Amino acid sequence: MTAKIISGTEMAATIRAEIKAEVEILKANTGRMPGLATVLVGGRKDSQSYVRMKKKACAEVGMASFGHDLPENISQEELLRIIQDLNENPEVHGILVQLPIPAHLNEEEILAAVGLEKDIDGFHPINIGRLSMKRREPLFVPCTPKGCIEMLDRTGVQIEGKRAVVLGRSNIVGLPVAMLLLHRNATLTICHSRTQNLPQVVREADILIVAVGRAEMVRGDWVKPGAVVIDVGTNAVDDPTTEKGYRWVGDVAFNEVKEIASAITPVPGGVGPMTIAMLLRNTLDGAKRSS
Ligand code: GUN
Repeated sequence: MTAKIISGTEMAATIRAEIKAEVEILKANTGRMPGLATVLVGGRKDSQSYVRMKKKACAEVGMASFGHDLPENISQEELLRIIQDLNENPEVHGILVQLPIPAHLNEEEILAAVGLEKDIDGFHPINIGRLSMKRREPLFVPCTPKGCIEMLDRTGVQIEGKRAVVLGRSNIVGLPVAMLLLHRNATLTICHSRTQNLPQVVREADILIVAVGRAEMVRGDWVKPGAVVIDVGTNAVDDPTTEKGYRWVGDVAFNEVKEIASAITPVPGGVGPMTIAMLLRNTLDGAKRSS
């Protein structure tokens, strides 16, 4: 069997068109233009590139973006002051602090300083806390996990009752996506670096979500025939045959797994574009709720 390739690029383009139309209606009805503030600390090339893509995506759907590019050595107090200003700025409906931030800063305190109504990343402890409990509604759900579920839904994959395995337990992806699967009544297993018999546990999955940051770690014989595989990894690997000298691969050995799974997301062009689409969706939702 050769798997269906779930194109995040195509799906995200559809969602961006939906969002663009809603932005126009919001502007026409209220005069309000959704605005995203990005906060980037330091010179990490990958973070710079992600933030650039997010700002470009805002412009394409008619949203404003406000970029704050801050020096590596900024103090905690200064960063908190900038976030407070953004909390009070009525043109800003979403605040994104690109992670990771330098080690001298207290990430927990920074994320808690983002106003709950502007927490479009869904990383505020109250939003994460609500996500982690039954019958509680977070104002925002983190973008990459939300994008993973949206991909399953738009592909017509049933989640309820299925065996879901999440490989990885990060705050940004593994833990929140696990909570979302549980809310959708999947039977859930979370695996990590200490899991024993990892391939055997992964092979139980009807739905497999991989977010470990290790190039092509999941092999073809780890996957149950017919499983749906969502690959969140983006790893650069050396490849002298390419112009840049490297290429992007996921956490899943795509060429092996596509012969076993029933559906799989590619890297690039899978979860990445969906994360940005969900960021736009959250920012628009924030703008709609504001008054
Ligand atoms: N770093 C990696 N993924 C994300 C994300 O979704 N949001 C933020 N703020 N930082 C990230």
